[in-house]
Amino acid sequence: MSRIAYVNGAYVPHRDAFVSIDDRGYQFGDGVYEVVYIIDGHMADEGPHLDRLERSLSELSMPMPMSRAALRLVMQRVIRMNQVRTGLIYMQITRGIARRDHKWTSPLQPCLVMTAKNTASSVPLAPTMQSAITVPDERWDRRDIKTIQLLPNCLAKQKAYEAGVYEAIMIEKDGTVTEGSSSNLWIVTQEDEIITRPATHDILNGITRRSVAQVAALHQMKVTERNFTVAEMMAAKEVFVTSASSHVTPLGMIDDTPINNGIMGEIAKSLRKGYIEKVISQGE
Ligand code: PDD
Repeated sequence: MSRIAYVNGAYVPHRDAFVSIDDRGYQFGDGVYEVVYIIDGHMADEGPHLDRLERSLSELSMPMPMSRAALRLVMQRVIRMNQVRTGLIYMQITRGIARRDHKWTSPLQPCLVMTAKNTASSVPLAPTMQSAITVPDERWDRRDIKTIQLLPNCLAKQKAYEAGVYEAIMIEKDGTVTEGSSSNLWIVTQEDEIITRPATHDILNGITRRSVAQVAALHQMKVTERNFTVAEMMAAKEVFVTSASSHVTPLGMIDDTPINNGIMGEIAKSLRKGYIEKVISQGE
């Protein structure tokens, strides 16, 4: 079966899916995106993803390309046409097409592209421990906007790939941890305090992050939102990342140093299970 993409009103095979070389997304990274996890054929946390999309667009003074209801129909159709049961939907909205010029002088027609793919036959409830490296956070000051300008994130992830590890953890100049190159970061202290960085302009406010915090609350686990240092992370009992594609994934080794002697923690395990059960139940 050939994969089908949605491009500005048309459903086309991937090989025929193109955008203009004058698209401001291609020229300037002038656009936003969302990645939504699909489980049992339905979208996980669909509403919060669309809320964040609208917020990202509004922060960049871009309009929605169509109504929210119409967008949902396109998303559902892309999932159906690609027969996705467990996977991801990617959606990108750019400011539009114009002759190359940093500024834009008139409102442009936004460009919308959507793809979906199967990633696994099912979601394992039990996590697999991964490793990570730390890298300096070299991004701009508005990391809360989910823009397609991902060069610092890509360079960080490439370093992780070349080091043979799963994720690159980004470190602020003041020695605090911001987040992963494509995930949010959490620690559990030796006293079982669950900590993640507050959702300011410093990080992307992950939808999985919010969903996992709700799961924690449901299980009477307290989450504290505060900045934490690399030293605190290295001394933690558990370190884990969250994102639409990793769900909840524990890190057993950072910069070649084992976390808690490389023993997988119970909190990440139970939050992952609770999160997956929560998103499965959204389709029932
Ligand atoms: N990445 N922080 C960054 C920098 C991210 O790129 C992501 C998501 C997250 C987690 O957000 P969420 O829980 O909403 O997926 C945090 C996506 C998956 C990506 O770029 O592919």
